[in-house]
Amino acid sequence: MKNLGILLSGRGSNFEAIARAVAAGEIPAKIALVVSNRAEAAGLERARALGLPALCIPSKGKPREAFDREVIEALKTRGVEYVCLAGFMRVLGPDLVREFPNRILNIHPALLPSFPGTDAQKQALDYGVRFTGCTVHLVDEGVDTGPIILQAAVPVFDDDTEETLSARILEQEHRIYPEAVKLLVEGQIEVKGRRVRLNKGAAAASGRSPAP
Ligand code: GRF
Repeated sequence: MKNLGILLSGRGSNFEAIARAVAAGEIPAKIALVVSNRAEAAGLERARALGLPALCIPSKGKPREAFDREVIEALKTRGVEYVCLAGFMRVLGPDLVREFPNRILNIHPALLPSFPGTDAQKQALDYGVRFTGCTVHLVDEGVDTGPIILQAAVPVFDDDTEETLSARILEQEHRIYPEAVKLLVEGQIEVKGRRVRLNKGAAAASGRSPAP
């Protein structure tokens, strides 16, 4: 059984989707720690309600290195091996990224490399794309730049607002994030440069063509 750590800053609906998949036995892992950098994050409350170890490590006014060191320490103390960023509104420093090489996942509400950074749904609307979506990727030292594991596309309709589009994307986030976590902790992912290959079993299960 692998130990998962979750880092979040807010609502925590992606964390909940992962927690549901863990509880249902779909992901062979346990959530060993939930960390928020904001005390008022609803996700932190939700974690506590689920009986999961949850901790606030405030980031405000703290240099990145100091904050990252505290996070590393907390994750290590709980034996965390894989980290999921679930609406975590901070860029990770190199120490944290290097502590968990190719073992940190993030979900982004756009089809990367389009619309990285904040307000991805608004960026997509403003640009006028007909499709956008979400991306689960490994975290490297850049912002939303790591190798892509899974993506899902959704249409953009003429009368969409940021709210309606975000809701359509979120539904897909909750589907592909747990699936990507499962692939990662099961060791079904092979990273070659920027490209991620899924092993044959994993590819069949997710309805994609297997790697030759
Ligand atoms: C999601 O849209 C996710 O893609 C982005 O931040 C939002 C977090 O939502 N990284 P939640 O806290 O998981 O509900």
